[in-house]
Amino acid sequence: MGKDVIVACDFPSAGETMAFLDRLGAEAPFVKIGMELFYAEGPEIVRSLKRRGCRVFLDLKLHDIPNTVKKAMAVLSGLGADIVNVHAAGTRAMMAAALEGLTRPDGSRPLLIAVTQLTSTDEETMRRELLIPEGLRETVLHYAENARAAGLDGVVCSPLEAEGVHAFCGAGFLTVTPGVRFADGDRGDQKRVTTPAEAKRLGSDYIVVGRPITAAADPAAAYARCCREFLD
Ligand code: C5P
Repeated sequence: MGKDVIVACDFPSAGETMAFLDRLGAEAPFVKIGMELFYAEGPEIVRSLKRRGCRVFLDLKLHDIPNTVKKAMAVLSGLGADIVNVHAAGTRAMMAAALEGLTRPDGSRPLLIAVTQLTSTDEETMRRELLIPEGLRETVLHYAENARAAGLDGVVCSPLEAEGVHAFCGAGFLTVTPGVRFADGDRGDQKRVTTPAEAKRLGSDYIVVGRPITAAADPAAAYARCCREFLD
């Protein structure tokens, strides 16, 4: 899989998602389904998007005891998603169990990536609330290394950390990066943000873009701008 823009379809229903995709002007974009849409529509939403030809990142961020995550991943594996994820904070054992659950009898499986620190978390909050005394960058790199050691394919991190993750875990270890905003756009609740062009320069493999496209007056223009800035 090459570099691409993944559109975060944070909508409450399949109807709104399909209507949005009709307006996007792209034949079969790479989309991300998060908790809101998955909890509202269930597994059928993944199948519908796959039928439409979309590649699907199923962003459910599993985090539980290893056995529970393994069994849940075995179920998700059957849905046909291209990428699924867990929280790296669940430990190496949990990540390894996730990988085991995800692997089908024929050895195939979706890509599995781990969330390091959410891009809505800053260093101050991490220290004060989560009692993690290390810096944000060190924490992200350490979590990425745990994910790599557990056999995962990559991590979710900020574009600001993509370069460091590649240097630490290898160029082939995927960096999937939300927290992307246009230079003239609204940050919302995201704290560690960059523009698509900057994410490209920093070596992100995939950028995940939600509101800058979904809330734009002209989503097709915003998507095209993102692709231009990130891919050209
Ligand atoms: O609207 P926005 O561009 O901020 O959307 C970013 C998407 O990426 C959201 O769906 C959010 O849940 C997801 N995400 C994130 N930070 C992470 C992991 C996922 O923002 N670390």
